[in-house]
Amino acid sequence: MLPLSIIILAAGKGTRMRSNLPKVLHQLAGKSMLNHVLSTAKSLMPYECVLVCGHGKAAVEAAIVDETWVKMVEQRELLGTGHAVMQAAPYLNHDGVCLILYGDVPCIPADVLKQLTQRAEHELVILTDILENPYGYGRIVRNSSGTVCAIVEEKDANEHERTIREVNTGILALPTRFLENWLNRLSNDNAQGEYYLTDFVGLAVKDGVTVSTLQIPQSWQASGVNSPTQLAALERQFQHAYADQLLASGVRLADPNRLDVRGHLTCGRDVFIDVNVIFEGEVHLGDGVEIGANCIIRNSRIGERTQVLPFSHLDGAQLGAHNRIGPYARLREGTNIEEHVHIGNFVEIKKSEIKNGSKINHLSYIGDAQIGEKVNIGAGTITCNYDGVNKFVTQIGTGAFIGSGSMLVAPIQIGEWATVGAGSVVSRCVPANMLTVSRAKVEHRADWKRPEKIKLT
Ligand code: UD1
Ligand code: CA
Repeated sequence: MLPLSIIILAAGKGTRMRSNLPKVLHQLAGKSMLNHVLSTAKSLMPYECVLVCGHGKAAVEAAIVDETWVKMVEQRELLGTGHAVMQAAPYLNHDGVCLILYGDVPCIPADVLKQLTQRAEHELVILTDILENPYGYGRIVRNSSGTVCAIVEEKDANEHERTIREVNTGILALPTRFLENWLNRLSNDNAQGEYYLTDFVGLAVKDGVTVSTLQIPQSWQASGVNSPTQLAALERQFQHAYADQLLASGVRLADPNRLDVRGHLTCGRDVFIDVNVIFEGEVHLGDGVEIGANCIIRNSRIGERTQVLPFSHLDGAQLGAHNRIGPYARLREGTNIEEHVHIGNFVEIKKSEIKNGSKINHLSYIGDAQIGEKVNIGAGTITCNYDGVNKFVTQIGTGAFIGSGSMLVAPIQIGEWATVGAGSVVSRCVPANMLTVSRAKVEHRADWKRPEKIKLT
């Protein structure tokens, strides 16, 4: 394989997005379009990559600061796709294959691009599509023997050419050695007064270089984004394709149209996902996991046969097997749950470890806590972990029973098999095996009379 150089065109204004954010920084499936293109580019292991920017250069630059393998150049005036490539060409140092990508075409599969570049060692290869409605696209013009002889832009096309349904997706690859020569021969003598990259086809034909085409397997994969409507449509297609892959791998989805994966989801066998679930970042679901409707699960691992009931929100949680979470549970960063644990409704857990068989079934806040095995935490229990400045740890030993409505003022340790009476505010360590209760005495007053309505005169 010859060294690969990639040029990404992203200088377009993106006017139709009607947004202050540069177009390529708009998100698809939880990641900017530009980052999708960069990830795909990176997976092809290029020797070099030049990104051509114009509009919103500073914001784009800030978004790619970590991508040190990408060189950014500015196209000050937008004089066409050929002109954009002219800005990048001087920065290429390797003589191999050059691949041109668009920053606003985020869904081209890497294996398609691999095929394209493999074929481009000696020829110009154009990624094409066949469209029901080709309006606006450059048309692929072939001679009587079927050989490609030109790409004609919509505005330059004659009536016959406009009927051609085979179109240029814009993505192409060529031997890098032709690049400079062909760029020097581009002219802007056309309907738009632009330097068309597509004129490479005519130049290749003149120079006796073979021009070939590769058809994108599915149209949406080569779709560009110009407007919020197109972005939303592409998002749905991306999600539908993701859902199809999950179904094909054996995951059961209640409705493939109501699933969103904004990142990467891996699943074991016999996983079931109900409707309207959103996965973000890296999520793994073990064998037999069930996710109820309307859950949001981010950067978490869920062990086998754990059930997450509807409306739960997990972010940065690690869960073992056979747990039951929710409905309406919130597990935050650093939640670590072993096995056979029950976390019920309106329970918030942060940076806490919960060992086997413990239960926190209703309305609690557990933060910075280490909870042993078989602990039962009653409704409305709160670990008071924060004094307004510092955070403190709560430790609860095996088998402890915390009565409902208890305030555990950290730092605090609760001994094994201790019982804390309901409604206690506990600010000192609780010994093992005993009942600890801190509660105002109950009074019974026979002389009490209910208030009567005061009459205003
Ligand atoms: C181009 C192709 C057309 C193809 C279509 C697919 C040319 C002349 N035409 O059309 O055959 O069917 O894409 O969508 O190449 N860009 C720059 N600088 C510029 C102009 C464009 O960086 O001066 C970038 C844009 O940001 C965009 C891409 O190039 O990512 C394509 O530009 P766009 O204006 O959408 O495409 P067309 O030129 O209309
Ligand atoms: Ca366009």
